[in-house]
Amino acid sequence: MKHKKFLHYTHTLNNVVTNQAIADLVQSSGLLEHIKELLTVRSQQYETPYASLALPDDRALFLQVETLAQEKKLLKPTLVLVIGIGGSSLGAKAIYQALVGSFAHFNCQQPQLYFLETVDQNYTAALQKVVETALAQGENVIVNVITKSGTTTETLVNFETILTVLKKYRPADYYELVVVISDNNSSLHKQAKQENFSFLSIPKQVGGRYSVFSAVGLFPLMMVDIDCNALLAGASDILKNSLSTDLKVNQSAQSALMLYLYYQQGYRVHDSFFFAVDLEGLGKWYRQLMAESIGKEYDVNGKRVCRDMLPTVSVGTGDLHSVAQLYLNGQKNIVTTFVSVEDIQKKSEYMHAFIEGTKLAYQKNGIPFSSLIVPSLDAYGIGQFMQCKMVEIIILGFLFQVNPFDQPNVELYKKEVKCLLIK
Ligand code: PA5
Repeated sequence: MKHKKFLHYTHTLNNVVTNQAIADLVQSSGLLEHIKELLTVRSQQYETPYASLALPDDRALFLQVETLAQEKKLLKPTLVLVIGIGGSSLGAKAIYQALVGSFAHFNCQQPQLYFLETVDQNYTAALQKVVETALAQGENVIVNVITKSGTTTETLVNFETILTVLKKYRPADYYELVVVISDNNSSLHKQAKQENFSFLSIPKQVGGRYSVFSAVGLFPLMMVDIDCNALLAGASDILKNSLSTDLKVNQSAQSALMLYLYYQQGYRVHDSFFFAVDLEGLGKWYRQLMAESIGKEYDVNGKRVCRDMLPTVSVGTGDLHSVAQLYLNGQKNIVTTFVSVEDIQKKSEYMHAFIEGTKLAYQKNGIPFSSLIVPSLDAYGIGQFMQCKMVEIIILGFLFQVNPFDQPNVELYKKEVKCLLIK
């Protein structure tokens, strides 16, 4: 394989992040033991809550997904519609945007990939029309419904609507156009069996926001010819660093330690500032990963801690003309990770100047930041980035002593919504 360039992470030491502070934190938290534990559980495949670490090297799973994608590609679909939300859609959407670009829907590449992840009637009706138009012209549309729990209201409602459309235009063979991805034995799995839909499962212990390298991300991306081998190779290769106890090479641990130390000093916002327009989706994927994993009311010992580090996403250079005023106003509660792409920076002296100039301004104003440089905008680089960030968040959860895999508080609004809907 020709790709072998790695993510490059740097953070300038200052009075908060000192070598001594890092060494003390590593020592007091038992971080090296935790990293060794992650290495061990990785070999236990899907038996532990850290199951997602097994995904990049699971060839059997990859081949199963690939076989189904190849089968569905024989139908020559012009459109692939993912119906899912949160961890069931953000990862594939981010990768598609990063690799195919913001103008994916204007080029002639087929099939095109759309995401239905809202109950906003304006949006859903417009997308339904796109699907209907394709079907009315005799084209094939693959409907890929993804929900780990099989119970997410938005996804089920949207699936029902689109299924009705499929049945109207393709009464005899609509089932051939549906691919369900869910937990084994979920209600949707049962429906898939009854209606003869194709089905791919998600390993039980792999949570939504950690599932991008399972069928959840791989199936839709394979349908649109994203190089998923390179994606997983990037993830697998960076894991060698992210699970290393040599912290000099471990970008995930370095970033988690830095975030933790700033949090301890009152920094409550983590802004990921991407200098690449097509990486906005990746920012939103990371925002969910961090918010749902770290933003916990209780720690693992049941103590009320209310962890409140808010992940935000900025995209340069546009957002320099929007939020930079606030970022540079002298307050001391934002820590930034600048994410740039080496290839993009090299291509434009303007981009280079804006990235470096912004960093200098932050530095002069005492606004802390770290830099994460992705070597190039390809599947291998994006695979590295996502895997590096997933381990960063697992380690940050460990440092904060919170469970990075659950999201108990979101049940609160879901309960209220369900009550309103059955009234
Ligand atoms: O990370 C998570 O677990 C959540 O964001 C879920 O992905 C999201 O709520 C969607 O859930 P489901 O896949 O069960 O429809």
